[in-house]
Amino acid sequence: MRFQRPAAHAVTETPRVIHASPDPGSSIYVAGHRGLVGSAIERHLKELNYTNLITRTRSELDLREPVAVDVFFQEHKPEFVFLAAATVGGIMANDLNRGDFIRDNLQIQLNVIDAARRFGVRKLLFLGSTCIYPRDAPQPLKEEYILTGPLEPTNSAYAVAKIAGLEMIDAYHTQYGFNGISIMPTNLYGSHDNFDLETSHVLPALIRRFHDAKITNAPTVTIWGTGSPLREFLHCDDLADAAVWLMANYDEPQILNVGSGEEISILNLARLIAETTGYMGEIATDTTKPDGTPRKLCDVSKLSKLGWRAKIELKEGIASTYRWFLENAADQSWETPS
Ligand SMILES: NC(=O)c1ccc[n+]([C@@H]2O[C@H](COP(=O)([O-])OP(=O)(O)OC[C@H]3O[C@@H](n4cnc5c(N)ncnc54)[C@H](OP(=O)(O)O)[C@@H]3O)[C@@H](O)[C@H]2O)c1
Repeated sequence: MRFQRPAAHAVTETPRVIHASPDPGSSIYVAGHRGLVGSAIERHLKELNYTNLITRTRSELDLREPVAVDVFFQEHKPEFVFLAAATVGGIMANDLNRGDFIRDNLQIQLNVIDAARRFGVRKLLFLGSTCIYPRDAPQPLKEEYILTGPLEPTNSAYAVAKIAGLEMIDAYHTQYGFNGISIMPTNLYGSHDNFDLETSHVLPALIRRFHDAKITNAPTVTIWGTGSPLREFLHCDDLADAAVWLMANYDEPQILNVGSGEEISILNLARLIAETTGYMGEIATDTTKPDGTPRKLCDVSKLSKLGWRAKIELKEGIASTYRWFLENAADQSWETPS
């Protein structure tokens, strides 16, 4: 993998990657614009007055279909692509649907990245995830730890698909001079998240559980494990800000972590969400259940050196996410997007 290869072994004669930065009239395809990440990127681009945005729902364009993807790129010739379409889920969904996670994500990445190269996209941003790092990698996670040890088995199928995407971006840089960049966001949260208890990530699941407990006057909410594991969270609007900023300012295939650089214990996160939702009952821990990895934090020093930092405080981000949940999701029997 090139992002680990020592400089002395680097390929020397490769097509030159040309710097590209979108201007307000550039045609920009946001793949996955109804998801947590894609919707935040689309919102942010609109706030910045980018006017030529292209979007398609999954039913309009299934990115697993190579012919449909080629037809779309040939017809629309986007100049810039944010690839935020993927099959995504929490631990349970990842573990139960390993086959879907690896097949869908490999197909989407392969079709979109290759069509982007062949149809003249000037730059593509690919979204990886911190699950690409080895399960027992030292903390905080540095970019160079990729492929230095075994993956967490519960999400290894998803992680391997993502690693293939990073490698493809890197290989297309060197062989074709294709300008692709790859970012590894930490745990994200915010509006348009998935609040289904079966498939969601920990923060939206806790919002759903504390909200439901408040409505039903449940005396106790029990969280798995001791509550001591430390986790990092980044608001999707911060991630969108980083993605758009990197699209304008970064042209390297080396992966970049995107995180807040701050961590919180699961118990303190539960307390914060209880306070935000107005839940007055007790929070209990079930120590018969596993804790998972004790700490998971990104090293964001590379991104900080480039000049980007997260701005949204966790407390403020959870409050705005809860407002979105109340307005859009609280009364629904939430279904996984299909
Ligand atoms: N959520 C996190 O905490 C997190 C953390 C790190 C990295 N990421 C990365 O960020 C990216 C986006 O994640 P997310 O959380 O925004 O996911 P999400 O909320 O589940 O949204 C996924 C989007 O992908 C689209 N999509 C899925 N399959 C598709 C297909 N076959 N064809 C066309 N579109 C398809 C969906 O379209 P429809 O709405 O039309 O169905 C949806 O808009 C992923 O690559 C993920 O790995 C997420």
